[in-house]
Amino acid sequence: MKLLVTGAAGFIGSNFVYYMLQSQPELMLIGFDSLTYAGNLENLAALQAEDKKRFHFIKADITDAAAVAKVIEEEAIDVVVNFAAESHVDRSIHDPQVFLRTNVLGTQTLLDACRQLWRKDGQWVAGKKFVQVSTDEVYGSLGPTGEFTESTPIDPHSPYSASKAGADLLVRAYHDTFGMPIAITRCSNNYGPYQFPEKLIPLMIHNALQHRDLPVYGDGRQVRDWLHVSDHCRAIEAVLMRAESGSVYNIGGRNEWENIAIVNKIIEILRDKTQDQDINDGLIRHVEDRLGHDRRYAIDASHIQHDLGWEPSIGFAEGIEGTIQWYLDHRQWTENVISGEYQRFYEANYAHR
Ligand SMILES: NC(=O)c1ccc[n+]([C@@H]2O[C@H](COP(=O)([O-])OP(=O)(O)OC[C@H]3O[C@@H](n4cnc5c(N)ncnc54)[C@H](O)[C@@H]3O)[C@@H](O)[C@H]2O)c1
Repeated sequence: MKLLVTGAAGFIGSNFVYYMLQSQPELMLIGFDSLTYAGNLENLAALQAEDKKRFHFIKADITDAAAVAKVIEEEAIDVVVNFAAESHVDRSIHDPQVFLRTNVLGTQTLLDACRQLWRKDGQWVAGKKFVQVSTDEVYGSLGPTGEFTESTPIDPHSPYSASKAGADLLVRAYHDTFGMPIAITRCSNNYGPYQFPEKLIPLMIHNALQHRDLPVYGDGRQVRDWLHVSDHCRAIEAVLMRAESGSVYNIGGRNEWENIAIVNKIIEILRDKTQDQDINDGLIRHVEDRLGHDRRYAIDASHIQHDLGWEPSIGFAEGIEGTIQWYLDHRQWTENVISGEYQRFYEANYAHR
């Protein structure tokens, strides 16, 4: 089986590449990523020579129809897993357009290429599947109780979640209209290695280590469900291997935390690990809340547990401790990805080869 992994140089995409190479020894993977500020080849630098026999990387944009068709046709791709996206809600508030371009038009470009190349004599070729990595944010916000199920109405509030909802619905539309073999996953907040330091957990770790302010939106009592990225990767593996066409699966950790509690947890673990007493809650600074900030997300993941036998395997205490240790062990990684140096290196190294 040959997989096209879009967004392979991002946070979840790179974790997925490492995970699948280990978990599926017969699989061939092709990473496809335009290397935006959030995509870094350094995220794939831990691939071993053995892995590289089953993985190669293409720098290209999912909105580039010719590049997309070329790779799907020439590589005879069986499964597309679409991670590529603009993924940061705050950026979508400052500049929504690129979110529509990548998340909606990019997804449609991928779908169209598959629609053209995966049919023979009017029939879909067996063994093909398009897996769309969507998000729980498409459901909007919950009050203090309740959980999103797969039949909760789509009700996004930010330009990011609206663009992801658009993509999610387009994928379903290609299934309903053309009979395209698809599956959609809607996962809660991920944490783990290689997450770009603009997101809550790595941002707080990075700032705390430098004794900088820890900016917390509003009262910090927004609730998110946190899942370790490797559990998300296992869930996507189950979906791409075993889910029926047209299925939608929620993925979550049953692990709800208020943002402020996560920040305090990070302070506690970091201070313990570094013995640096200047890492304390005096660094927390409450700042003006994010516009349209959803109050609470919570996921009912019983459908994937029941159908595909998936459930989270990494408890939060273990997962957050390991994640913080990873950032402590990879401080240069953080410096590199935030400096933009790596993108310049890529251009200098590859542009004229
Ligand atoms: N991080 C989470 O908590 C979470 C939760 C649920 C779903 N998701 C979804 O999972 C996917 C991956 O999220 P992430 O956190 O790894 O994001 P990320 O921002 O770390 O990575 C996104 C990747 O997509 C690439 N990319 C962006 N635009 C592209 C384009 N036009 N063409 C090709 N590549 C492009 C970037 O270079 C980057 O490598 C996204 O679709 C996101 O919506 C994320």
